[in-house]
Amino acid sequence: MRNRRAALAAVATAASLALALSACGQNSEGGSKDDKKDAKGSTVGIAMPTKSSERWIADGNNVVKDLKSKGYKTKLVFGEDDPDTQVSQIENMITQGVSALIVAAIDNKSLDNVLQQAADAKIPVIAYDRLILDTKNVDYYASFDNEKVGELQGNYILEKLGLKDGSKKGPFNIELFAGSNDDNNTKYFFNGAMNVLKPYMDKKQLVVKSGQTAMNQVTTLRWDGGTAQKRMDDILTSSYKSDRVDAVLSPYDGISIGILSSLKSDDYGSASKPLPVVTGQDAEVASVKSIIAGEQTQTVYKDTRKLADVAAGMVDDVLNDKKPEVNDSKTYDNGAKVVPAYLLQPVSVDKSNYQQVLIDGGYYTEADLK
Ligand code: GAL
Repeated sequence: MRNRRAALAAVATAASLALALSACGQNSEGGSKDDKKDAKGSTVGIAMPTKSSERWIADGNNVVKDLKSKGYKTKLVFGEDDPDTQVSQIENMITQGVSALIVAAIDNKSLDNVLQQAADAKIPVIAYDRLILDTKNVDYYASFDNEKVGELQGNYILEKLGLKDGSKKGPFNIELFAGSNDDNNTKYFFNGAMNVLKPYMDKKQLVVKSGQTAMNQVTTLRWDGGTAQKRMDDILTSSYKSDRVDAVLSPYDGISIGILSSLKSDDYGSASKPLPVVTGQDAEVASVKSIIAGEQTQTVYKDTRKLADVAAGMVDDVLNDKKPEVNDSKTYDNGAKVVPAYLLQPVSVDKSNYQQVLIDGGYYTEADLK
């Protein structure tokens, strides 16, 4: 019964979709000038990965705001960090006749089929922050300089430990964490950090006592803080019975919070056992508060307002037959093509500059961080 009702609903949706499409002429090859006028007022679909991290909620809201100000309607969905859910959400939006899609992928390789459906319906696709792999059906990529994010984290560790300016020689103990192995950004973050840290590991000024240095040994599925906490617990138990950990490379604030919980439950943060340097990314409220409280040491701020602006601008341009501005046409090969990208600049934030960058920059208010 439910299936039949669903089938009838699908037929009805498809019929109204066909009407809507023919009314604005989008089903004709290339479209005419008049079609383009109708791009304004059309609905843009936005697929974000999860609500479990506040950054994606902010990203979603910012994209909606920007598109509305350009005259579009929007449909915003969150995929609960489940690749299948995201695929069916995108399928639904295609059926509903969206004019363009902005997608922050959960699993970078799960979207090939559904993006073929988008291409068949002539729906342009913008990859948002995370590149979608192995499909030619992604038109543009809006993100940050992801390798730079890792470099900022790695360099911060070197500076804080006194290795950068040579004031300390070490050896210092460091442990490494990477992001989700199904997120294309993970390797850029990790490689960026390792480019900076590896020479010091080779010289034994940095020592990874767990021995886990290859990316596939240190990834954290779906960027989950609990998973990172568990791995840090295991490392502390197996490799730090008599030694102290001096630094932890963490690629993302949610992971940093998990690592810090593990460290604190092993007495780090007490007078005799100071917390190690712990990096992060996204400047999420909990982490900025932790930085102010002297726990997490650093984060990498990426202004999601700017990213949303870029993505909304790309959609507006593509739907109006204009070429979006890009500033990178070589780095992001997704296996099927090099995706033209616009990359923004990340900024390292710690206790010394959060006020200036985050509060004076209008990202947070003083009250948000209380
Ligand atoms: C990445 C993103 C990071 C962080 C992480 C976890 O793709 O670039 O900024 O948000 O996902 O959500």
